[in-house]
Amino acid sequence: MMSVLDRFRLDGRTALITGGSRGLGRAMANALAEAGANLVLVGRDEADLNTARDEITAATQRQVWIVTGDAGTATGAAVACDHALDLVPTIDILINNVGGRRVDVALEEVSIDEWKRLVDLNLTNALICCQKLFPGMQQQQRGSIINITSVAGPLAIKGIRGRHYEVAKSGLTALTKSLAADWAPHGIRANAIAPGVFLTDPNRRWFGQKPDFQHDFEAHIPMNRLGEPSEIGPAAVFLASDASSYITGTTLYVDGGYTLW
Ligand SMILES: NC(=O)c1ccc[n+]([C@@H]2O[C@H](COP(=O)([O-])OP(=O)(O)OC[C@H]3O[C@@H](n4cnc5c(N)ncnc54)[C@H](OP(=O)(O)O)[C@@H]3O)[C@@H](O)[C@H]2O)c1
Repeated sequence: MMSVLDRFRLDGRTALITGGSRGLGRAMANALAEAGANLVLVGRDEADLNTARDEITAATQRQVWIVTGDAGTATGAAVACDHALDLVPTIDILINNVGGRRVDVALEEVSIDEWKRLVDLNLTNALICCQKLFPGMQQQQRGSIINITSVAGPLAIKGIRGRHYEVAKSGLTALTKSLAADWAPHGIRANAIAPGVFLTDPNRRWFGQKPDFQHDFEAHIPMNRLGEPSEIGPAAVFLASDASSYITGTTLYVDGGYTLW
């Protein structure tokens, strides 16, 4: 009989993480490798990917492959997944992590081209990665998909515009439920992690431009602090592993209570 902690192990599994070189993606990469998984990390900057690979390999002795490419566009996501599948034919875990608000533009002003580009970045690319990895997961009747949504899925965040982000992240939540329902017969689970506010590079930039922003967020969060990127890792290991074998279609909020008020 497998012990409860053994159910969290990922030995022999391979995870593809889009945006795995820095920020929350890197924190999840660290955690999954520590739990036993080999990794394929996708990003645009090759130097950052090399650093991530070297540090993770040194710390965990897992295999880490890197794919350089723009996973934020429909074509780029498809090319990156094809490249990943050339390197590793069987991918068991997919974390769709690339995304972001990027621009603070009002709904009445955003151009439709910009809107489409940002919806591709936050939603369409995730579907494409799922489609690309589906045949392998279907063949082995096993797969775990984790979509990184946001507290901006169920809420319109106060004090900032760029509502393509809210719209795309709530679409990603809906995609998660649809994938979970339609692919359950193939042994594939799909869940979402909705992070609250973490001090990664994009938020450092927002807080630099809007100095009161960080304080306002902290005051709004019941736990009264921002999240540490390492606090996202255990949630990803849980949803990636057999520890969550009967959980699909759900969203796990890692937000210090942000969405409670
Ligand atoms: N940080 C938060 O507080 C927070 C809160 C809620 C939700 N989230 C969500 O969590 C996810 C990660 O956010 P983060 O704050 O960790 O972002 P981040 O610090 O900007 O990290 C982004 C990672 O993604 C890669 N990346 C970005 N755009 C890419 C692209 N087009 N193609 C390939 N790789 C790309 C980056 O590498 P390159 O730049 O080299 O490509 C880097 O590895 C996003 O979906 C975000 O919406 C974050």
